[in-house]
Amino acid sequence: MTQKKQKILIIGGGGREHAIGWKVSQSPRAGEIFFAPGNGGTSEIGKNIDIKATDIPKLIEFAKKEKIDLTLALPDDPLALGIVDEFQKTGLRIWGPTKSASELEWSKAYAKNFMKKHGIPTAKYEIFTDFEKAKKYVETGAVPVVVKASGLALGKGVTVAQTKGEATEALHKIFVEKIFDNAGNEVVIEEYLSGIEISIHAISDGESWKIFPASQDHKRIFDGNVGPNTGGMGTIAPLPFVDQKMMTQIEEEIIKPAILGMKEEGRPFVGILYPGIMLTKEGPKVFEFNARFGDPETQTYMRLLDTDILDIVDASLDGKISSLEIKWKNLFACNIALASGGYPGIYEKGKIISGIGSPLEEYPLGGGGMDLSTPSRKRATPQEGNDIVIFHAGTKIENGNLVTNGGRVLGVSAVGNTLQEALEKAYKAIEKISFEGMQYRKDIGKSAR
Ligand code: AMP
Ligand code: GLY
Repeated sequence: MTQKKQKILIIGGGGREHAIGWKVSQSPRAGEIFFAPGNGGTSEIGKNIDIKATDIPKLIEFAKKEKIDLTLALPDDPLALGIVDEFQKTGLRIWGPTKSASELEWSKAYAKNFMKKHGIPTAKYEIFTDFEKAKKYVETGAVPVVVKASGLALGKGVTVAQTKGEATEALHKIFVEKIFDNAGNEVVIEEYLSGIEISIHAISDGESWKIFPASQDHKRIFDGNVGPNTGGMGTIAPLPFVDQKMMTQIEEEIIKPAILGMKEEGRPFVGILYPGIMLTKEGPKVFEFNARFGDPETQTYMRLLDTDILDIVDASLDGKISSLEIKWKNLFACNIALASGGYPGIYEKGKIISGIGSPLEEYPLGGGGMDLSTPSRKRATPQEGNDIVIFHAGTKIENGNLVTNGGRVLGVSAVGNTLQEALEKAYKAIEKISFEGMQYRKDIGKSAR
């Protein structure tokens, strides 16, 4: 049976969006793919549209005009703004959680109260709306202690304070200096959890779910997991140190009560539920919920996924997750972020990227994919059998050159029969790539090997 090719709109412009787009482009059902706003890499597999991921009215106008069959809402901020609700109101098919379902991510205060109510293991906490009260609480409590702005704060809203002074300073910045604006109106102060940090993803249709293999991000900028937090410097999956018993425990104690709890609250969760989990001595505990695919976790998941991603999205939208079988390749994957010098602080943009081929030539290492808009351009197609795939994050094409355009610039992904093999391949591929100021972690996956 031949199926109608679908026109697809992918919201976002990072490595996650390039990876999802790359996988979508392999579906026999995928027709034209649009990215809003996309990056230098996504322009190789579809068309970049100059509309911000948060400009919902313009996105709706575009989707209607182009007769988009399916929109994938991937980043956190449009979800928090209610992109799914707004698209649905106009009859457009969009995948992702609604505004009320994604509150699990955009309000840490909501997420904590939800976990308490539904018996989901998490760090002990208190919620504050007042600087003096929060300060007093910290002064009488233990350290380390974790201070979190409740709202979305570009991944910068969390301070793991080693001293009471540091915690008070973080509170001052949030409540008095208002550095996170309204995202800091409420603050969660929580117990410090020690253990190994892992990422779990589960796809849900609001009632049932399927859990992905465990993955692990490396959030700090420098080797040894030190320095400031970033969006994520590298991921590995699956995790050799997480066995089936642990996955079952996580599913039973965290994913199941979360999906059933959201349904009970009248906020059925359709999309990816991604808890950040600490494997503590007392068992797995949630330190945050995300209501979307992780970046760069997604890049490793897309390398391992052996099922059509559009089948997965359709099952999630159509209430058919319980009968969906998700196949994963029997391989390990890694994705190493190459970042701009100075990131996550101030960095320059516009540096020419060399070693992955000019955008007008073949990509020697793969990473471009097919250019559907100009079929005459010859591209390497990083499909099956290609061990290395480069996902673009902060890149753009300027005067025919591929240049840096963000903090995390590229993600170099590799697969292998062992984690060690995947990592060796990725690091070898990185040797060929350069741009002024390029920095990356040399120890991704080291503690797991
Ligand atoms: P987030 O911005 O929510 O991803 O948190 C940033 C980082 O803070 C996480 O990746 C953890 O390493 C750390 N973190 C958050 N909550 C806790 C906690 N309760 N105990 C220890 N570390 C935490
Ligand atoms: N991997 C970090 C994030 O997506 O939040």
